[in-house]
Amino acid sequence: MAPVVSGFSKLSKADKIKWLAEHHFNNDSNATNTLITYWNSDDRLQRLHDEFTENTISNYYLPFSVAPNFLINGNRYTLPMTIEESSVVAAASKAAKFWQTRGGFKAEVLSTTKVGQVHFSFTGSPERLQEFFIQVKPKLLKSVAPITKNMEKRGGGVKEIELRDKTTDLDHYYQLHCTFGTADAMGANFINSCLEQFAQTLVDEAKKFESFSETEKEIEIIMSILSNYVPQCLVKASVSCPVQELPDSKQLSSLQYAKKFVRAVRIAQIEPYRAVTHNKGIMNGIDAVVLATGNDFRAIEAGAHAYAAKDGTYKSLTDAEIKDDQFIFSIEIPLALGTVGGLTSLHPLVKLALQLLGKPNAKKLMEITAVAGLAQNFAAINSLITTGIQQGHMKMHLMNILNQFEATNAEKEQLIAYFKTNTVTHSEVVTQIEKLRS
Ligand code: MEV
Repeated sequence: MAPVVSGFSKLSKADKIKWLAEHHFNNDSNATNTLITYWNSDDRLQRLHDEFTENTISNYYLPFSVAPNFLINGNRYTLPMTIEESSVVAAASKAAKFWQTRGGFKAEVLSTTKVGQVHFSFTGSPERLQEFFIQVKPKLLKSVAPITKNMEKRGGGVKEIELRDKTTDLDHYYQLHCTFGTADAMGANFINSCLEQFAQTLVDEAKKFESFSETEKEIEIIMSILSNYVPQCLVKASVSCPVQELPDSKQLSSLQYAKKFVRAVRIAQIEPYRAVTHNKGIMNGIDAVVLATGNDFRAIEAGAHAYAAKDGTYKSLTDAEIKDDQFIFSIEIPLALGTVGGLTSLHPLVKLALQLLGKPNAKKLMEITAVAGLAQNFAAINSLITTGIQQGHMKMHLMNILNQFEATNAEKEQLIAYFKTNTVTHSEVVTQIEKLRS
């Protein structure tokens, strides 16, 4: 077991690695070399990455891929996608290509409101608290003026502050439930700074409020923090086409395909076990774009899954129907994204990703990202109701297996050719490698 270390963050990068080598890797030079191999030879770039977080010892690569041919609201996009799962980008590209000849994707931002809360305890009269709140509300707003000044110039700011009595759920528990507009920023720092100032003003003003008893003057702030549940920061994307323009095959006519597709989505609407996987597939596309554009994928994940459960049961984020011989497939998802601030102006690949998208504003990025999720879900359901998922997955996974076995270029070429006409399974790949090598 490694010993307790203090002051680790203050060690130089070389000394951190030395400590790791000594206490975790048995002084194995391979471990040290692996870490060093991933350093960037450009010192300036490496320093930039080192400073994103604490205790950085190396870089962790993920593929930066692109999926072309996305027609969204009449404009063509090439989507940047950062993801490790082999089949995701191919699936997105396939869906994009399919829909570009059928009118493309339509997307629309429905709302952009974000939420933050000051959670506090108050032991006293709820009526007097309400009276205090009415009086203090203008002061709360005034107290954040230095923070909101710039945001207001960009069209954002504080939208509303409500006092919410939560005492039926938890003794003495109240909230300031606050809503914000954050323009093109994701806005986490802006919201949290406003909330912490609201909390301070609330405490200070309570001490001066004459109608309060001495105990009522002591409001206890529990915490002030934004919410990643953003059901009012919502975007909708859809595709539609006449049913007869859907794929048809010997096994499945276009109409049968449409009906089977709608039923697959219906299953994800009523069966949580399926819904979670269905939505995971949607997030394959969403997270890839979110990560490539420097946004917070954990926030997006948390918000999306909470929204999927908003009616009390966890459900599909997409919907499908056949109406007047039209097949309609859509997604509605909360996406609190930003195109300024955070990593957007720092990480060179994030900057490039945004440039690739034509430097979108936050609303446009919400639309593009929702489309990535819908496309991904279309591709997944398409495979699931026709060939099954493994055919495409294993084809894309072939290269990973070959790399695992350190296949040479010549071996790769031969095996890729072989698996063009044979089913890829892990054991079959191993058998074929062994055969080649024997
Ligand atoms: C795999 O990453 C995602 C899928 O399982 C999604 C789905 O089942 O809809 C293919």
